[in-house]
Amino acid sequence: MKLFIDTGSVAETEEIAAWGVLSGATTNPSLLAKEHGDPGDIIRRICELVDGPVSAEVVSSEPEGMVEEGKALASLHEHVVVKVPFSRAGLAATRELTTHGHRVNMTLVFSASQALLAAEAGATYVSCFMGRLDDISIGSAEVLAEIVAALRAGGPESQVLAASLRHPMHAVVAAKLGCEVATAPGKVLRQMLDHPLTEAGIERFGADWRARPEFGAWLEGLVRSGKVPVS
Ligand code: E4P
Repeated sequence: MKLFIDTGSVAETEEIAAWGVLSGATTNPSLLAKEHGDPGDIIRRICELVDGPVSAEVVSSEPEGMVEEGKALASLHEHVVVKVPFSRAGLAATRELTTHGHRVNMTLVFSASQALLAAEAGATYVSCFMGRLDDISIGSAEVLAEIVAALRAGGPESQVLAASLRHPMHAVVAAKLGCEVATAPGKVLRQMLDHPLTEAGIERFGADWRARPEFGAWLEGLVRSGKVPVS
């Protein structure tokens, strides 16, 4: 499963892209509205940082407006994927945009039946919001499992994107269910790093090695002797 970052923040993207784990990013109007600066510059910079698909969302409610906005957003950078909210208008816009070669991430999908329609309209990504389902006491794992099963049953080639992740277990469940992508906020990606045994293990290895200073000198020498210029 590929990991995307769900953000409107260049700084956060920069921080986490440096870990080497990001394959793309998703933004939305709410996330971008929290940021200062030109949204186009932000989207372009995130595209450069993740060097992969970056969803940028339309806000019109009519198909014509969605298509115009989608084309304009796609012109910002080759990595931009047009994010279109699920609705009748969204489906029509998705069909139009994909017919003209644009990739679409159909967002706000909460059921397998909606996912089937999104896929038939040509969406490359179908975004199911786990956190928002759990918020209203609908089991996100069950819904996601249905969506994955429905889209894998020989239908069109859409990727299931688990979104609205609130904690690391959402990412694990999405991976186990076979989602192609999960998009997580910086907070959740940072939580995914943590394990007390990892920290304790690093501390112990370091302490044991430091107890043998001659080993430290040996490793330093080894590094120096094999020094190859970094290309
Ligand atoms: C997905 O692409 C959305 O941007 C996002 O995951 C929404 O998450 P939220 O429910 O935390 O707002």
